[in-house]
Amino acid sequence: MKLCMIGTGYVGLVSGVCFSDLGNDVICVDKDKNKIDLLKKGKIPIFEPGLSELVIKNFKNKRLKFSSNLKKSINNSDIIFICVGTPTKKGGSSADLSQIYNVAKEISSSINKFKIIITKSTVPVTTGDEIEKIIAKKNSKKKFSIVSNPEFLREGEAIRDFIYPDRIVVGSNDKKSNRILKNLYNPLISKGAQYLNTSRRAAELIKYASNAFLATKITFINEIANLCEKTGISVEDISIGMGLDKRIGSRFLRAGPAYGGSCFPKDTKAIISTADKFKSNLSVIKSVIKSNENRSNILLKRVSEILNNKIKNKKISFLGVTFKANTDDMRDSSSLIMIPSLSKKGALIKYYDPTGFKKEFSKIKNVNYENSIKKTIEDADLVIIHTEWNDFKSINFSKLSKRKKIIIYDLRNIYSVDKMKNQGLKYYSVGR
Ligand code: UDX
Repeated sequence: MKLCMIGTGYVGLVSGVCFSDLGNDVICVDKDKNKIDLLKKGKIPIFEPGLSELVIKNFKNKRLKFSSNLKKSINNSDIIFICVGTPTKKGGSSADLSQIYNVAKEISSSINKFKIIITKSTVPVTTGDEIEKIIAKKNSKKKFSIVSNPEFLREGEAIRDFIYPDRIVVGSNDKKSNRILKNLYNPLISKGAQYLNTSRRAAELIKYASNAFLATKITFINEIANLCEKTGISVEDISIGMGLDKRIGSRFLRAGPAYGGSCFPKDTKAIISTADKFKSNLSVIKSVIKSNENRSNILLKRVSEILNNKIKNKKISFLGVTFKANTDDMRDSSSLIMIPSLSKKGALIKYYDPTGFKKEFSKIKNVNYENSIKKTIEDADLVIIHTEWNDFKSINFSKLSKRKKIIIYDLRNIYSVDKMKNQGLKYYSVGR
């Protein structure tokens, strides 16, 4: 099949490359010409394990193309995926849909034969209806079908999530589109992925409800972790004990810092904004957002307690600053709250991240990037393990530290409390 992915960000690039790997002809379009030129040279603008290899392979065998000519790319394709960003509106909480609607307008003047137009971007309920109205202004409804097919790709695991999805959600009442999409996804369905056909509005809401639910699960266990710390219980026992109940499930029950990234913070706000529009009160999700926003304050208070309320001139080192491992994404990472706050209190901060220097900290006083774990922690008073990179899972702290009394605050519960204590290290973690 001939596919056109509009937008070569996370969603468009990963989905486009994976579709081409499944044997489709895919053209990835972006109005950013520089990005397209780089992609043509095999240079990938995002950090995603395995992506570069797949791009090069499929570009070489000519199933994957890159272009900045939208009209031509739409003309040559049967299925158009809209994969542009839907960030939070500046100064608001609803999703900014300007990129979606601009693309819809451009598509409306480029339809030469029947097209299936799909939103893969996360869009609020009724956005599909609006896109349909825009395109119908210039085209007969027989010439196009608007479908919602949300993505559920995790950064760092995006390729695996694409190839082995738990489910493929297709929101459309159009029989022809459904048949074509089922066919497109058949290689994944035959490997066990569930194919769910719903109304377009339901598919739009499934995406938001899923992300809001996962954010709730994480926030729930983070609050339980607070209680565990006060009652001498290990939150890991609680996660296992709860997770064994099949109705609950064990995933996304790991306590840690505030959740971040490009989706959960944005999508939880946007679903509330949609609900407000329809005069429906999502009070659970509202309190999840509040609790998550307060999470970094709770962890900062703990840092203060660990250092006996003496933060000024203390050498604090962060291992990892991205919102999760296997990504270079800093969006809504809790390090963006924690590091500036500690710097304000007079701490001398060093950080190391496997994805390198971060411009976000370049103007913050006394915050320096080091290019190795050793240099980052050798003279630290306190090491904060912020992100769960594999690189941080077997560090010999006693060997690397010049200090007699190095303190470790492990926000990802990577190490065993007993083993660390046996090594004579002052070790703190979350909910244990
Ligand atoms: C998420 C969704 O999982 C994905 O389906 C969606 O389409 C895009 O948003 P992503 O943002 O890449 O993916 O990361 P995810 O792995 O979901 O983690 C989000 C945040 O939750 C991170 O800050 C992570 O550290 C945190 N998290 C996750 C926990 O704190 N505990 C957990 O058990 C799981």
